[in-house]
Amino acid sequence: MSENREAQAADAETAPPSTRKEIIQGLNEDLAREYKAIIQYVVFSSTLKGAEYGDIAEQLKQHASQELEHALEVARQIDYLGGNPTMKSKEAEYSDDSKKMLEIDLRAEQDTIKNYRERILQAERAGEFALSEKLRGIIAQEQDHEIDLKDALGLR
Ligand SMILES: [Fe+2]
Ligand SMILES: [Fe+2]
Repeated sequence: MSENREAQAADAETAPPSTRKEIIQGLNEDLAREYKAIIQYVVFSSTLKGAEYGDIAEQLKQHASQELEHALEVARQIDYLGGNPTMKSKEAEYSDDSKKMLEIDLRAEQDTIKNYRERILQAERAGEFALSEKLRGIIAQEQDHEIDLKDALGLR
């Protein structure tokens, strides 16, 4: 048993095998982040003030719809893998200040992208290629969201 563990630990230093359970746990974290994104975009697209933010307000509504599609897809993948999709959101953040709110959204997108990258690697290590394909589609949209937010903040 302990020898087996050592062998697993040695493997883990190079390419740790991802178990289905780990992937389900990770996907449930991703799902909770998608719920949070939906909440933030729904609220903020309707409360954003300032003429300079006219374009981004429309884009945030589109983000909200896309995050819902992501949540539906991730939940479907969790169910397919034999897991239970979470009903809990990560805690949503808010600011009255438009710039700060956009910064909150940007940080959230970057965190989301980082986590989906990890999930894609896990999926591929486990041979779950259909899942990794779906996640690649999602991450491409998250990267577009990041670009929209950076443009609105004058960071590009
Ligand atoms: Fe998303
Ligand atoms: Fe996003």
